[in-house]
Amino acid sequence: MSIVKRIGVLTGGGDAPGLNPAIKGLVYRASEYNITVAGLYDGWRGLLNPLRDVLPLDRSKVRRWDRDGGTNLGSSRTNPFKILNEEGERIDRSDEAIENIAKLGLDAIVACGGEDTLGVAARLSEKGVPVVGVPKTIDKDLAGTDYTLGFDTALRNVTEVIERSRTPAGSHGWVQVIEVMGRHAGHLALWAGVAGQADLILIPEHPFRYQKVYQHLRERLGDTTGQVRDPQRPRYSVIVVSEGAYSEDGELVTVDDRHDAFGHARLGGIGEVLAKRIMAETNYDARSAMLGHPQRGGPPSAVDRIMGMMFGARAAAAVAAGDFGKMVSARGIAPACDLSLVDISSVLGKLNTVDVERYYDTDRYHLKDIGM
Ligand code: F6P
Repeated sequence: MSIVKRIGVLTGGGDAPGLNPAIKGLVYRASEYNITVAGLYDGWRGLLNPLRDVLPLDRSKVRRWDRDGGTNLGSSRTNPFKILNEEGERIDRSDEAIENIAKLGLDAIVACGGEDTLGVAARLSEKGVPVVGVPKTIDKDLAGTDYTLGFDTALRNVTEVIERSRTPAGSHGWVQVIEVMGRHAGHLALWAGVAGQADLILIPEHPFRYQKVYQHLRERLGDTTGQVRDPQRPRYSVIVVSEGAYSEDGELVTVDDRHDAFGHARLGGIGEVLAKRIMAETNYDARSAMLGHPQRGGPPSAVDRIMGMMFGARAAAAVAAGDFGKMVSARGIAPACDLSLVDISSVLGKLNTVDVERYYDTDRYHLKDIGM
């Protein structure tokens, strides 16, 4: 057993349903080891000056947190190794973060996050900080685990919107393009697209061809020149496009030129580009909807509640056992997973993306073997 008496917990990167259940699981299990937990606000920013108060967390404080979406601790994309100073340069303030861990009397840190947050955890671990990671991202692109918190709820949210897009699209006879988050991984787009019965699903793992998209639309909708419709055919079509998807002759579409402290551009806009191209190159009327941050919103799904509490409890056990530099990992189909610990460093630098060979039909732009 380790001599940990007090843990700091933080949530970094994009908020995700499942984080609050994870904190509840952590606090509950930690209390069994007589370990107290302090909530650090706003991700790694919570460890930098001016040091804000921490939030003492005990069983009564977090009792209802399993039902809360987002993160009650706040989040940020702060990278203590690359903090923007007043001169606009990025400087390393990690030593300050480490000093503050000591000032706060924290014996260990539990960091809940994706590749970026856990990348910082790994570097701090190399500098001697006892850390344990909890995997979280709606993108499900983190290696070393079959589940990341937030994915199931986002899948539910996106599926609902796809379904709701049918009535306007059907009433007006549109091609409805729906742009889904996921960064460079198409998991969310693919599985929500299948669940919501989209006709085409475009993912980052396989560059698409515009001509092929038009061809699919013609096959489905027929010739609508002069608005003469074939009553035997569907009146509309739904296309799900992942924000990181791009055409064979195109490139990633970004919101602007800026990059965050981890070097990421904000992806977004491919849906609008696609809808405009469809209108310019075919006779079909098209609309696009960028689902944006509400995809990550709302209360956690049953799976995210269960997985969050299990991940949090496992992280507390890891801390109590002195298993540092590790991330909780799930193997199997959530929530009936086997949990274990993997080295955080072993999951970094290799994104978990859709296995095209296994799941994606590159001809029909859909899930393989589903007959759509
Ligand atoms: O990583 C989660 C995610 O929601 C991605 O799917 C998306 O590209 C990104 O975060 C959006 O970034 P931000 O929350 O900073 O706008």
